[in-house]
Order: sequence, then structure tokens, then C-alpha cells
Amino acid sequence: MHNPLGHINDYHERTPNHCIRLKARLRRDLLALTDSPRVADLYAGAGVMARTCYEGLPYIGIDRDRGQTAEEWAATADVTAWNFFDLDAYGSALPVVETLAARVTLPATFVLTDGTRLHVQMRSRLPEYHQRFVPGGDRYRRAWYSEYAGILRSIVEALFAGRRVVDYQQRHASRHGVTPLYVGFRVVEGGA
Ligand SMILES: C[S@@+](CC[C@H](N)C(=O)[O-])C[C@H]1O[C@@H](n2cnc3c(N)ncnc32)[C@H](O)[C@@H]1O
Repeated sequence: MHNPLGHINDYHERTPNHCIRLKARLRRDLLALTDSPRVADLYAGAGVMARTCYEGLPYIGIDRDRGQTAEEWAATADVTAWNFFDLDAYGSALPVVETLAARVTLPATFVLTDGTRLHVQMRSRLPEYHQRFVPGGDRYRRAWYSEYAGILRSIVEALFAGRRVVDYQQRHASRHGVTPLYVGFRVVEGGA
């Protein structure tokens, strides 16, 4: 049976308090840059970010454990009702960002947790999803780990081609070790 308290403990075990503070600060910074934020929290989990950052705002919380995946919601919901997308995934939410990129109205704000560096460090290769964005693909071993932050940014830019990614911010809990990247940005009309 689903145990909400167990889930909170699980989240806190995986996410130390200083990371929670870092995540919350990133969200508050991006909220301050967003006009009338309406929040779609697609990996809402135990609602820590909801309580810390989103109280009083129009809000919808989606989670696989609540019966719908972020992938399903992004592909089928009226995403135009929302302008602030929180994707606090354990792995990578880039495929969901790609779905949203085709469906959102602009301006829109995104905050992501991306844990791909763990995958990259353990396997010395990029995940398949990422490979199509990187010239040269995955033919030989490279320092994907140290390059990953730049790769992530270039994939985000590619997903929003024809529009402008602005206010891009990236934080990591520590310079070393296998920590997720916390990324936030806004997307507006226009672009090269
Ligand atoms: C880092 S936790 C989210 C914590 C949450 N933001 C909070 O503040 O409490 C990641 C969550 O992603 C959920 N999850 C994993 N895969 C998912 C998917 N495909 N769609 C939606 N939720 C998913 C897990 O159930 C877990 O609750």
C-alpha cells in the first residue's frame, strides 16, 4: 500500500536538506521572473516544493504515484492553462520538455532536476535520447561527465529552436560527486 510518510522519508533520503534549499531558491528566482505564475508540478512527489514555493498560486500536482505520468499529462492535458512547469525528476525529464515544447504557449518557465550525470559517469556514455543532439554521437569515450552541463543546455536550446531561451540558470549541489543539475529558464517568442 502507498505510504505517504514513507515517500516523504524516501525523498529526504535521496535529497539532502541543502539540496532542497537550493531547489527552492531556484524555483523562487524563476517565479520572480514569471508574470502571474500558474504552476504545473509534474513530478510532485510528497509536495515538498509545493509547500515550500507554490502556496497560494494556481497549481496542479501530477505524479506517477498519483496515477498519471508526466509523459501522459504533457501529451494530453491543456498545457496552455499553465506557464510554469516544474520537472523534478530523478532521471531526465528532457523527453517531457520536448513534448511540452510543441504544445505550450509562450512565455513559459521551466525548472528541471536532471540526474543524467549519474548515468553518464557510470556508463561513460550518453543516454540514447541525448545522443541524437550531439554531433559525433557516442562513438568513443569522452568526458561526458564534465561536459554534461553544456550538453544539457544545448539540448534545451535545440528543443526550443525558433524561440528564445532566456534567464538560463544552472546550479549543482557540489562541484564533485554525482549530483543532479538544477536548471531553470524561461522561453519567449523570437530567436535565431
Ligand atoms: C525528486 S521526486 C519529486 C519531489 C517533489 N518535487 C517534492 O517537492 O516533493 C521525483 C518524483 O517523480 C515521480 N516520478 C517518477 N517517474 C515519473 C513519471 N514518469 N511521471 C511522473 N512522476 C514520476 C516519483 O514518484 C517521485 O515522486
